Amino acid sequence: MDYQQFVEEQVAEIKREVGDGIAINALSGGVDSSVVTVLAHRALNNQLKTVFVDNALMREGEPQWVVQVFADMGIPVDLLDARRQFLSALKGLTDPEDKRNAITNAFYKDVFAEAVGNCGAKFLLHGTILTDIEETVAGIKRQHNILAQIGIDPEQSYGYKVIEPLKTLRKDGVREVAKVLRLPEEIAGRIPFPGPALATRIVGEVTEQRVATVRAATAIVEAELAKTGAFQYMAVLLGDRATGIRDDKREFGQIIVVRCIDSIDARTATVRELPWKTLQRLCQRITEIPGVNRCLFDLTPKPPATIEYV
Ligand code: XMP
Repeated sequence: MDYQQFVEEQVAEIKREVGDGIAINALSGGVDSSVVTVLAHRALNNQLKTVFVDNALMREGEPQWVVQVFADMGIPVDLLDARRQFLSALKGLTDPEDKRNAITNAFYKDVFAEAVGNCGAKFLLHGTILTDIEETVAGIKRQHNILAQIGIDPEQSYGYKVIEPLKTLRKDGVREVAKVLRLPEEIAGRIPFPGPALATRIVGEVTEQRVATVRAATAIVEAELAKTGAFQYMAVLLGDRATGIRDDKREFGQIIVVRCIDSIDARTATVRELPWKTLQRLCQRITEIPGVNRCLFDLTPKPPATIEYV
């Protein structure tokens, strides 16, 4: 595929659809939404309003870092603090689909509806990619960002039209577009990170405390495994507990799983073989997190596993 031409076509298409209206997009700092932001900014300039929603489920320091990276590219991003809304929407939920639904609704109905209302946007630009659509349609998992494909009319339900410029591409294609758009490597080369963020890595209820635990583990895993160049690596907090010993006392503690996989497009994945020393170091650092006394390494490829846990 000629990605330069893809960019030109999409810029023209976005201009044509939005006309002299206002469009809004949510930036998460992941590759997909970052590419959409730059593409749409190129097409619309100040007719585009970009927001970063802090949903309480982000990595350490992420909201401020992302806003700064885009400010450096001359793209203004509004930081919306919606931490309370998301945490209260997730309270008491343990079923994966219920959690995804709660996040979708908190995002579109509450936070976004208000942001759209405030700026009068009639268009929402979205970083949906082909893999999201395929897996949702196949019923494997409902990605939080799929609406039209599962029969929800966003215009009727939420009052705006959704534009999805990347919906014919897979992750490898999005990275090619990122190169054409000259996204900084710190964004373009980032490992994938799901829209529902750390909630996809917490089995069971999502509470502020449990997010803090998986966030701390995520920071360790990302720091230790960046040099592997693997497709994706992550920390997951299990819903079970295990007995351990801390300060000579019995502790019924939490369990973190480390996952490190290779993949081209996230449809299938194999597990990266890591040096024993790296695994030991991960284990040592992760079990220093308060309340965590077990660290496991996931050996399961996709399929039969998915990449995320929720
Ligand atoms: P799974 O877990 O389905 O993940 O094997 C495939 C790829 O997609 C990412 N992922 C998501 N991305 N919203 C997203 O934007 C989601 O709901 C979502 N679920 C999974 C995942 O990180 C992996 O790269």
